[in-house]
Amino acid sequence: MDKHTVTVFRGDGIGPELVEAAMKVLDCAGAPLSYEVFDVGEAEYERNGKLIPDEALASFERTRVMLKSPITTPVGKGFRSLNVTLRGKYNLYANIRPVKSIPAIETPFKNVDIVIFRENTEGLYAGVEDVISEDEVHALKIVTRPACENIIRAAFDYAVKNGRKKVTCVHKANIIKRADGMFLSIFRDIAKEYPDIEADDKIIDNTCMQLVMRPEQFDIMVMQNLYGDILSDLCSGLVGGLGVVPSSNMGADHAMFEAVHGSAPDIAGQRIANPTAFLWSACLMLDHLGEKDCADRIRNAIDQVLNEGKHLTRDLHGNAGMDEYVDAICEKL
Ligand code: NAI
Repeated sequence: MDKHTVTVFRGDGIGPELVEAAMKVLDCAGAPLSYEVFDVGEAEYERNGKLIPDEALASFERTRVMLKSPITTPVGKGFRSLNVTLRGKYNLYANIRPVKSIPAIETPFKNVDIVIFRENTEGLYAGVEDVISEDEVHALKIVTRPACENIIRAAFDYAVKNGRKKVTCVHKANIIKRADGMFLSIFRDIAKEYPDIEADDKIIDNTCMQLVMRPEQFDIMVMQNLYGDILSDLCSGLVGGLGVVPSSNMGADHAMFEAVHGSAPDIAGQRIANPTAFLWSACLMLDHLGEKDCADRIRNAIDQVLNEGKHLTRDLHGNAGMDEYVDAICEKL
């Protein structure tokens, strides 16, 4: 069988452990993949003075598919986020984050089934900041029609393709009248092209309250970059935390798959991280490559291990380390 070649970025913190875990599970499932693996990120920068080696970028440009583990970004100083850079460089405009209740995981919410569509290339993440004086800084929120259209259309197209009922636009157009106003007005225009999908909108602050009171009312949600970043972590808290939410970053030509969480320096190297979010991201990659059967086999094995509840990692109130959990999944496979 022909193998798909994919680029793998090993990243920082818990990144290398997660890559090791994912490759083990993918191998056990017989995934038809071959890998071009690169060290990238803060640690690589300290070693070789470059965040991403040129060969790593060349690989992604060739394969167009990447499994990426998290990367550390210095806070308030230092280099620009490599994630933001990659998303911009390859116009990976749609950050898609499915958040679903897992029956085996105890949370106050049972029926969460939300897919977040986060605009991934602009907004306040464009990095346009002007230091006016020592006491005044301006951060520009960049909003362009093509980027709004791309993410909003991606949300509606996904709704149609996946038999979903409703798309909610999340915004702050009551205050940020022009920038968020344009996003909302484009949303309303595009919604008319999809008469079978219910379309509504909510202000971001109200949305946060509704999410922690009645999350089951939401289906697909589409929003600008910063709102999507924050709501993704909020929503992950509804279903068991950052260890269980995967994502894809989709552009017209390239696709990058990663967990929603970061490099978790507080638990790095301890082999106690939950690899589920990263494994599910690898499954989204297999779906993208047309290998849905293999992805489903892995998802089934993970479901079985989660449902049995014997080998859960600590974030899910178990005692297992990452290796025990991964071995249990491989056993099922
Ligand atoms: P984080 O997501 O790395 O961690 C937040 C909390 O969740 C920590 O207590 C951590 O231990 C826990 N956690 C995260 N993933 C987990 C997992 N798989 N299993 C068990 N527990 C897990 O967020 P934080 O601490 O704010 O950021 C750390 C670094 O990661 C920063 O440098 C940040 O810029 C970077 N980051 C990178 C991302 C990426 O590469 N896509 C995304 C988000 C943050």
